[in-house]
Amino acid sequence: MAKFLITGADGQLGQCFQLVAQEFSSNDFIFANQNELDITSANSLKKFCSNNNFDGIINCAAYTNVEKAEKQIQKANRVNADAVKNIGTFAKENSLFLVHFSTDHVFDGHMKKLYKEEDRKNPVNEYGKSKYRGEELLKKIKCTHTTFRISWLFSPFGDNFVNNIIKLSETEKEIKVVNDQRGRPTYGIDLARVVIKNISKPYFFNYNSYNYAQLGVTTWSEFASKILKYKNNSMNITPCLTSEYPSDVKRPKYAVLDTTRIENNFSLRIKNWELTLKDCLNRIDKL
Ligand SMILES: NC(=O)c1ccc[n+]([C@@H]2O[C@H](COP(=O)([O-])OP(=O)(O)OC[C@H]3O[C@@H](n4cnc5c(N)ncnc54)[C@H](OP(=O)(O)O)[C@@H]3O)[C@@H](O)[C@H]2O)c1
Repeated sequence: MAKFLITGADGQLGQCFQLVAQEFSSNDFIFANQNELDITSANSLKKFCSNNNFDGIINCAAYTNVEKAEKQIQKANRVNADAVKNIGTFAKENSLFLVHFSTDHVFDGHMKKLYKEEDRKNPVNEYGKSKYRGEELLKKIKCTHTTFRISWLFSPFGDNFVNNIIKLSETEKEIKVVNDQRGRPTYGIDLARVVIKNISKPYFFNYNSYNYAQLGVTTWSEFASKILKYKNNSMNITPCLTSEYPSDVKRPKYAVLDTTRIENNFSLRIKNWELTLKDCLNRIDKL
């Protein structure tokens, strides 16, 4: 039985891993939140791992606030780049596997076709730049690793689009949601299941990056409308342009991920985003 450390355990994806790990008894997972393990500190990592004989690390810790990252550039880089170098170096020195997560924000979204893993990276905001630096640092270290690049992450947990729309629908009659950004939502629970199910398979580290997202392309306004439809909620969604929305942060307009590599390498049939949204809403109702 292999033993894995999961960092950032109280974040959205960390909580998805906590839930899904209960379905699998083939591996042992130890979860650490930021108080227990600060990934920016090499000492903290060393200390936490010294009591455990890990085979691998799954890094769910990150700085994810896209708006704040524009001002907290150093902090974003400390967590998304320097700390990733820390973990990668530790993994290399101790012969551990490393699974890491990145974002569609490493692409500029100017292409009009699906983004493959090797397509040109050109992040348009500070969050994307810090995540891209993390990816590149990890590649240089050459530890056994793979990075899952994901987009529009949602789940029953934490601060995400689905939970935010539900919260707004409790007080608002109408909201504006942008309809000129396209993407593929990623369901955290399905992602965690894909990782845990395949992590011990010989093909898992065949590539050092995989795109992963649910099947189907949508817009934020369509995504919001579907949430309300499935919840039988009558809040009105008014589609608007990104330029009409009060935000100074640039976001990729068409960062639609091509998932062919992971589908082929893992023999994976990825579920449609609407199906996974229904599962997410059912789980939220039961929380
Ligand atoms: N959310 C999305 O839409 C999205 C889209 C594409 C890719 N991703 C990527 O997916 C991964 C998971 O995202 P998520 O949505 O689960 O993020 P999240 O909910 O913000 O979780 C990240 C966790 O990391 C913790 N953390 C921050 N700094 C840390 C440190 N120095 N040491 C240890 N833990 C630390 C955070 O703690 P605090 O909350 O206390 O700061 C939080 O619990 C990230 O790599 C992210 O870049 C996310």
